[in-house]
Amino acid sequence: MTTYNLEKYRPTLHFAPQKNWMNDPNGMVYFKGEYHLFFQYNPDDSIWGPMHWGHAVSQDMIDWQELPIALYPDELGTIFSGSAVVDWQNTSGFFPVEPGIVAIFTHHLDKADGTPAIQTQSLAFSHDQGRTWTKYEGNPVLQHPTKVDFRDPKVFWHTETAKWLMTLATGQTVTFYSSPNLIDWRFESEFGDNIGSHDGVWECPDLFELGVDNSEEKKWVLLVSIGDSPQFESGSRTQYFVGSFDGSTFTADNQEIQWLDFGKDNYAGVSFSDIPNEDGRRIYLGWMSNWRYANQVPTEGWRSQMTLPRTLALQHFGDQLLVVQNPVKELDSYFTKVVEIEDVLINSEETKTFAVDRPSVEIVLEIDNHDAKQFGIVLSHTESQKTLLTIDSETNHITLDRKNSGEITFSKNFSNLQELNLQVTSKMKLRIIVDSSSIEIFVNEGAYAVTSLIYPDKVCEEIVLFASGGAIQLTNSYISASHS
Ligand code: FRU
Repeated sequence: MTTYNLEKYRPTLHFAPQKNWMNDPNGMVYFKGEYHLFFQYNPDDSIWGPMHWGHAVSQDMIDWQELPIALYPDELGTIFSGSAVVDWQNTSGFFPVEPGIVAIFTHHLDKADGTPAIQTQSLAFSHDQGRTWTKYEGNPVLQHPTKVDFRDPKVFWHTETAKWLMTLATGQTVTFYSSPNLIDWRFESEFGDNIGSHDGVWECPDLFELGVDNSEEKKWVLLVSIGDSPQFESGSRTQYFVGSFDGSTFTADNQEIQWLDFGKDNYAGVSFSDIPNEDGRRIYLGWMSNWRYANQVPTEGWRSQMTLPRTLALQHFGDQLLVVQNPVKELDSYFTKVVEIEDVLINSEETKTFAVDRPSVEIVLEIDNHDAKQFGIVLSHTESQKTLLTIDSETNHITLDRKNSGEITFSKNFSNLQELNLQVTSKMKLRIIVDSSSIEIFVNEGAYAVTSLIYPDKVCEEIVLFASGGAIQLTNSYISASHS
């Protein structure tokens, strides 16, 4: 068995800061061959504190290089979440020579007199691919006379009306603003009263168009993250709405609450801006944590990591239209097949065990459920540390149980089951990516995602497949391992 000299819990395929605290992804933009990831960052401690924008760049969204801090607090406040766009047509006037990046972010100003903090929207621009930044002298560019929660601007160019559109979290609604130049903003509409989940404050919205079932038909998707509230044990999570947008107003197609992820650890995710048309993907990533315990997770000297980047699509399943997510294809080159599972029958009460010894593994399974009542996978890290994924075909229920996965004592909430209801069919597909301290599960080609942190003492060393109350058969299945 190879011993890997890895820092405990540090991921191999996920972005995590070298030191100190990180939360939301910010300002994700593609420009001149680089993907930029900015992020909520406290450079002085490994718990949340005065927010800066940290910065990393990558050619493929997997291998990231952390760069110096991009945005520092100033007299208008600390730097909360926001977005970045390429101003190709110099609408702002910041780029007389050649196009560059504009960051649109929230200034958060705490008041010494105990009155509520003030949140305003501001700009900064960069002429050197995000390496250095100039704050706009006319900041802030958008404020509100009364709203306290007024933050997380996500901006995109709306081609049909030839203007910039801002989606902003405004308490328990989302407000849309428009602008010709990123500087002067006009109210368009507000969305969210009497629809969706209001279990917590609305944060980090994102609005974009996706093709339906790979066809020419398109629909708009609005992502809305929901903050942690003590009375709801799930903590912070993200919902989405599918509907239409006419350049001013978003109208949801239906009233049901739809969750983007059924795991506990995918929050504040938004999509990249300026992915080239010839690529055409809508790529998303989230903060792989939960406000319920984010400040307590047992890493030393650094805290938090991002989810894998994922390609989003809209797909019908019966009469349901779901946002489907799958890891970006760039991930594939990090894995090599180590076990082929061509045609393997697992009888009732039997197991099949596969040994692995690399920091991260990918498990791809096509399962024919003959008559098993339950089947699933045990991800085994040590003799006593195991995470259990169970699919129950009688109750149509999937559970991920991390109560024996490793360190869990930092939060009483962490050991709760992660659950998902779905129609368990006779053929199921699972894709599971296990890194040093996370599991990402994609069910049925990404129709459902379950993203979960774990804190085992060792990387995953054994994968055990099981069936009970009947048999399952595996075809076209395999296990891959990362190269390093
Ligand atoms: C979401 C959030 C945002 C805010 C940022 C502060 O996790 O609360 O609404 O801008 O984090 O760090």
